[in-house]
Amino acid sequence: MDVLVTGGLGYVGSHTCIALHQAGYRPVIYDNLSNASIVVLDQLAKICGKRFSFIQADVGDALALRQCFTDFSIEAVLHFAAYKAVGESTAQPLNYYQNNVCHSATLMSEMQNAGVRRLVFSSSATVYGVPQYLPIDENHSKAPTNPYGWSKLMVEQIMRDQCSANADWLAIALRYFNPVGAHPSGLLGENPSGIPNNLMPYVTQTATGHREKLYIYGNDYDTPDGTGVRDYVHVMDLAEGHVQAVDRLFSEQGFHAFNLGTGNGASVLDVLKEFELVTGVSVPYSITHRRPGDVAVSVASPALARQVLEWHAQRDLKTMLGDSWRWQSNYPEGI
Ligand code: UD1
Repeated sequence: MDVLVTGGLGYVGSHTCIALHQAGYRPVIYDNLSNASIVVLDQLAKICGKRFSFIQADVGDALALRQCFTDFSIEAVLHFAAYKAVGESTAQPLNYYQNNVCHSATLMSEMQNAGVRRLVFSSSATVYGVPQYLPIDENHSKAPTNPYGWSKLMVEQIMRDQCSANADWLAIALRYFNPVGAHPSGLLGENPSGIPNNLMPYVTQTATGHREKLYIYGNDYDTPDGTGVRDYVHVMDLAEGHVQAVDRLFSEQGFHAFNLGTGNGASVLDVLKEFELVTGVSVPYSITHRRPGDVAVSVASPALARQVLEWHAQRDLKTMLGDSWRWQSNYPEGI
């Protein structure tokens, strides 16, 4: 079965293509290469022993989407393509709403025209905003604190409304907590351009000597060691969660949203200690002021995904760190 994967050369999208392939689906990758390398397609071919169909186009390009739905027998769409830098979204909100929200509406219109009714959307735990209680379940209030988060919540609302208006639509939003890790082959991983904003690529790039040291954003949070606690989840676990969601699209009606996380929290210092244990490399760091917009703790309740999607994260922090490090060591300059 052909499934369209927008943003299929990006971090979570590319790993999901592997899991889809392993589960017997045929990914058709649709990516405008704005924040991904074409070399990812070669890496996927090495891992899967097969070169996936690839369309270089923008999700805002209705004609290109139409052509794609004509050329392939697409039965479901996995929609990853989006801008994802929180700070940038605050500086350039219109770009984020145009690209992430308007283009998602274009995609859904073209799905409607082509008779494709099944959609899995790459959402984020960022839709919850500042946690009011822990662990965070799907009923937690939604109060994003930046345009990136709002763009994710707005797309979820469009999906919800589309499913209410069309009883034959099935749509699932997957709210990721903190995706980290890499494919165990060491051939594919996170490939950020420029200075990483997120913790894990910064840690691995510091370990290779590409960055002088890690700056820990605050050690005065109300957490056991004072540093921020997050629910890190392996990207291959996320990838498998998408496959479970696609499978479910053929039985569940309407709109559903699920958290994808482990339910376990790790602090920044926990991550550094585990990293040293797993890799033998110690990462120099210093403590600096808190980063605006950060919260003390963010941990998922993954219970609903376990119950309905029959999915749970299987890889522990050691595996996440070991896989991230293998990838970073193999490709210190990225690809
Ligand atoms: C961030 C985004 C979130 C997005 C997620 C994607 C913000 C405010 N939130 O989440 O919307 O969905 O990435 O993965 O940007 N840290 C350091 N030093 C660093 C980098 C991070 O100490 O150089 C700390 C942070 O303070 C935090 C933890 O590491 O406690 C994780 O940070 P990060 O990887 O950026 O993820 P989030 O902030 O949770």
